[in-house]
Amino acid sequence: MKPLRIRTKRLQLRRFRPEDIEDAHAYASDPVVTRFTDWGPNTIDDTRAFIQEAIADAQAIPLQTISLAIEHRDSQRVIGTVGMELGKSTLGDASIGFCMNREFWGRGLTTEAAQALLDWASDAFQLRRVYATCRPDNQASARVLEKLGMKCEGRLLRNVQVDGEWCDSLLYAAVLSN
Ligand SMILES: CC(C)(COP(=O)(O)OP(=O)(O)OC[C@H]1O[C@@H](n2cnc3c(N)ncnc32)[C@H](O)[C@@H]1OP(=O)(O)O)[C@@H](O)C(=O)NCCC(=O)NCCS
Repeated sequence: MKPLRIRTKRLQLRRFRPEDIEDAHAYASDPVVTRFTDWGPNTIDDTRAFIQEAIADAQAIPLQTISLAIEHRDSQRVIGTVGMELGKSTLGDASIGFCMNREFWGRGLTTEAAQALLDWASDAFQLRRVYATCRPDNQASARVLEKLGMKCEGRLLRNVQVDGEWCDSLLYAAVLSN
């Protein structure tokens, strides 16, 4: 597998390893972190399955799903996940997603990680457009998307099922310069 390492001032983005389970479970099992996500809070088996899937996805040809561990360089802890899904049918189109351990919120770290992945992927895959969805009341996520230069394109009605209930999402997107 090709090593993938993206370094920023405070972070290193890298592929997940089995030994990341404890750090990853710390945020993935936190009900405050998963309040607006369509997964979680995770059991330890859910987190193990996620890491195994991320490792398997990294070996897929062609690469379609990228799930990277956000490693905090000072503490060497894995403090979050940032990922992209490359469009299968629409060339140059990708979605982005992220989550972060609550202890590290509000320091600009998610924006730093997502911007670095976006810059890398935009070049590596000649991305033309990036998009993301978030729940309408997830203001922190919407703000991160705005800081990445994305604009709200509209509201998707009842497009995602969370705990058996159909919920609306906001669609954010940016057209890249490639
Ligand atoms: C969304 C999330 C990843 C943001 O992480 P973070 O590291 O705190 O993000 P950043 O520090 O880079 O930026 C957060 C921004 O949101 C703002 N923000 C946070 N809470 C907010 C709120 N309730 N209302 C408005 N803005 C808010 C912050 O002030 C900051 O903006 P600023 O730099 O202009 O001040 C984190 O809250 C999280 O993990 N949430 C749970 C998982 C999740 O929702 N993932 C996204 C699914 S779509």
